[in-house]
Formats: sequence, C-alpha cells, structure tokens
Amino acid sequence: MCHLTQDTHENLLVGIETSDDAAVYKITDDIAIVQTLDFFTPVVDDPYVFGQIAAANSLSDIYAMGAEPKLALNIICFSENLPKETINAILKGGHDKVKEAGALIVGGHTVDDNEPKYGLSVTGFMHPDDVVTNCNAKVGDVLILTKPIGIGVLNTGIKSEMISEEGYRLAVETMSTLNKFAKNAMMKVGVNSCTDVTGFGLLGHAYEMAKGSDVTIKIQSKSIPIIQEALSLAKMGIIPAGAYKNMNYIKDFVRISNQIPQELVDCMYDPQTSGGLLISLDKGKAEMLLTELQDSPMPYALIGEVLAKDIYSIVVE
Ligand code: CO
Ligand code: CO
Ligand code: CO
Repeated sequence: MCHLTQDTHENLLVGIETSDDAAVYKITDDIAIVQTLDFFTPVVDDPYVFGQIAAANSLSDIYAMGAEPKLALNIICFSENLPKETINAILKGGHDKVKEAGALIVGGHTVDDNEPKYGLSVTGFMHPDDVVTNCNAKVGDVLILTKPIGIGVLNTGIKSEMISEEGYRLAVETMSTLNKFAKNAMMKVGVNSCTDVTGFGLLGHAYEMAKGSDVTIKIQSKSIPIIQEALSLAKMGIIPAGAYKNMNYIKDFVRISNQIPQELVDCMYDPQTSGGLLISLDKGKAEMLLTELQDSPMPYALIGEVLAKDIYSIVVE
C-alpha cells in the first residue's frame, strides 16, 4: 500500500498514511463511516470454515477502529472447475459470520481466477469522536492482546499436514472468532489506541503503533498468549516465509533479549490471520478492561507497556 496517492480532506479522519486498519470519513458531527477490504486464498480445506475465517478477518479491521460493522460486500475469485457446492459453502460461511456480527451482506463481485480467493469489503459506523487509531498510544499505557498468537505457524502446519487435531481445532477457533467481544469491551472502557494483529505479526503491528505514536513499546514475552503447538512447530522449522519478511522489515527497530527462545521470537514475527486486538490504554483502566474481558471467548493478557521513545521502537524482554 506504500505507493498509493495520499488524498486528504477535512472529513477524512483516518486515511492511508498511518497504515491503520480502515479508513474513517466523517459524514456529520455524529456519524463517521468506516471502510475496509480484505481477501485471501484459503487457509483451510473446509470451504465453509474458510468462509467464516475470511469474514471474521475482514470484519476485524472495523472492530479495530472501535466501529460497528453494518454492511458487507463479497469479493470472490474462483475458476469454473471449482464445484458450485464449494463456492456456496464459502459464501455460506461468510454470510453466517457477517450475520453473527450483526451486519448484512448486500452484494458482491466475482472474478474468474485459477487460485480461489474470498473476502469482504466491510462498512461500519461510529461516532467520529470515538475513533480508535493505531497511532495514539501514550507513555504510561499498558498493552492488552485479545487473542493468542501462533496462527501463521499453525496454518503452515495445516498445509504441511504436521498439525494435531487439537492444534487444527484451536487454529480454526481462533481465526473464526469475531473481535466483536473484545471491541465492545474496549469501547466500554475507553482506550487510547488499537490495531488488529494480522499479516505483520505481533511485532510488526506493535511497531506501527509505536512508530505512529512516537513511543517505545515494551513487551513481556512470557505474558503473550500463544497456542502452545505453534511453539513446537516453530521449533521444527515450520515457519511461514512471511515471518522472515516481517523480521527483515523491522529488525533494526526491535531489541529482543537473547534469553528468549528462538521459537517464541519466530511466533512474535509470525503473520496472523484474523488475529486479536492489540489495545493500548491508560494503566489505571487496565483492571477494568481485564474484568470486561473475563467472559471473552479467547485467551487474552496484559503483555506490555508504553515507554518514552527510545532508540528502539520495540523492546522485548
Ligand atoms: Co488490520
Ligand atoms: Co486488513
Ligand atoms: Co485502528
């Protein structure tokens, strides 16, 4: 997205310059529209489950801004050889997830393509004053992550048939869970900054937050919720290429204690599909948010804090 022309407008509250999760445009003093688009190739063989995951992932960028998704459009690519039942199952998965989110699918577009792809463009609404950007973390904040990491490694394990049944179940459950609960909790409490953890991995998205907020983010590696099987797979070298890409992109801005096992470091760079929300909020509100998250369908944890800007954007201990 680096080469897009950057247009500005007084009503455009969030554009592309901060690599935020979605664009936000103020319509009136009370209503802002939030827009995003995401689609990708199947991560699992089951077409219905893939549809659910793709939809949860697309909806997530709306939640990461603190908005409520309302309308969605399908974008689907498939070849004529793909059975109709497969396509219908993908669309049914997407439809059911969007319905669970309380939004409506109101159309879409299909493109002929040998490699199947599916996702959604989602539109949400919110009060313009409530927008939560990815670049407003404050010194003295703490960081809370609302889903476990390790998804990219597990997906690589699924593709290479190295994963256990339990690992598969956890991966699918994590990817298809909406960030709706976490978003509602964060909006109830009031937070400073948020992004969802996706393709750039935990450290990549934390880096964007740190850079955009002009702070240093310190992460306690032991506190990070992680699907345990991801660690054993990573230890065997089952690591997606994207993890190395992420590492090469930001490694000069990251200081990682050499006490931390390599497989955990790999998982911190691991690209996530439909990952959790990374939330930065006032330390005094942390207990309140952790209490709100108590009934969350996903493991969550306080994983770090925000410090005054140092030579490194990210410090991991
Ligand atoms: Co995002
Ligand atoms: Co996205
Ligand atoms: Co955001």
